[in-house]
Amino acid sequence: MSTAKTAGVRTRRRERKDSISKSAFRVKYLRRSRELWNRYLRSKPWLDQLYKSFLGITPGQKVIDVGCGTGDFTRYVARLSDGRSKILGVDSNPKSIKAGIADTERVGLSQVVSFKLGDAYKIPIDDDYADLTCCRSLLMHLDDPLKAVREMARITKPGGHVVAVEQGKMGIYYDPNDKRFSRLSDQVWEAQLRGIRKLEGKEFRIGEKLPGIFQEAGLVDMKAEILNNVYLASDPRRSLNDVKEELRFYLTYFKERMEKDRKYVVAGGLSNAKVSMYNSGYVSKIEGLLADDQKLRQDPTISADALYIVSGMKKA
Ligand SMILES: C[S@@+](CC[C@H](N)C(=O)[O-])C[C@H]1O[C@@H](n2cnc3c(N)ncnc32)[C@H](O)[C@@H]1O
Repeated sequence: MSTAKTAGVRTRRRERKDSISKSAFRVKYLRRSRELWNRYLRSKPWLDQLYKSFLGITPGQKVIDVGCGTGDFTRYVARLSDGRSKILGVDSNPKSIKAGIADTERVGLSQVVSFKLGDAYKIPIDDDYADLTCCRSLLMHLDDPLKAVREMARITKPGGHVVAVEQGKMGIYYDPNDKRFSRLSDQVWEAQLRGIRKLEGKEFRIGEKLPGIFQEAGLVDMKAEILNNVYLASDPRRSLNDVKEELRFYLTYFKERMEKDRKYVVAGGLSNAKVSMYNSGYVSKIEGLLADDQKLRQDPTISADALYIVSGMKKA
């Protein structure tokens, strides 16, 4: 191999090692973030009905969940189905597959849910196999999401559906008592998305683009919904303990990532000084809330994001 080619491979490897996605793929992160999110979702019982109807769950289906991680969404689809469906999770990380198998055994779903190691760009499943092929928070991490959607369409039966659940652009943080910091937060968010696109070629908030990608992959009869996550610390539907555990977890994650993520925000056009101002402002705001339960429960800051759920049919 020529020196240039070797250097190219090394660079790509280094990029992968430092990737924005790396922490989000860790088993520990996936397990804990999904556990906390599921607690939050208990305040939205109507979502099961929405998913069930949107995914078109019917008895005895064959379902593939691509980029399944530790299998949280895979098991969720299994719970929505009738117990006779076969749900297979596919992921390229052997550690996630191992964790997915263990977590599935623990909750008694191994009869219907299984796992397989595999790449979203070359899914180890025959053509026209699945009634439903889905993914959640996968396409945002890929530099060629269209290629993955084409693969998802290939393994889906004619008349079957491909569904993606992915975040959209909306990322709201609004503290009525600190409008300056709220504006800075918007700037950081937008710069970070631009920087990730620039440095890693990923559309980290790919939601709005899904119908276009599905169309390019040859899928038809597209449908779309938005599921919002809205966080307000005073919301009585959530226990103080849950709110605190969530804040603690994301503060730890933020501290771990903030210097690594600086390069994306700067590449997206924000100055180092502004990033530092944001980082220290965020840490002191969350630490202040965690230190005072009353203050936390009365905090009027709202944060929200949008999760798109898009479905397309493979032509019959
Ligand atoms: C953010 S996690 C989402 C996991 C799961 N879908 C969920 O929502 O809990 C993204 C997953 O995609 C997997 N992944 C990334 N690139 C992949 C690829 N090319 N093929 C298969 N899996 C991939 C990662 O290993 C990781 O488990």
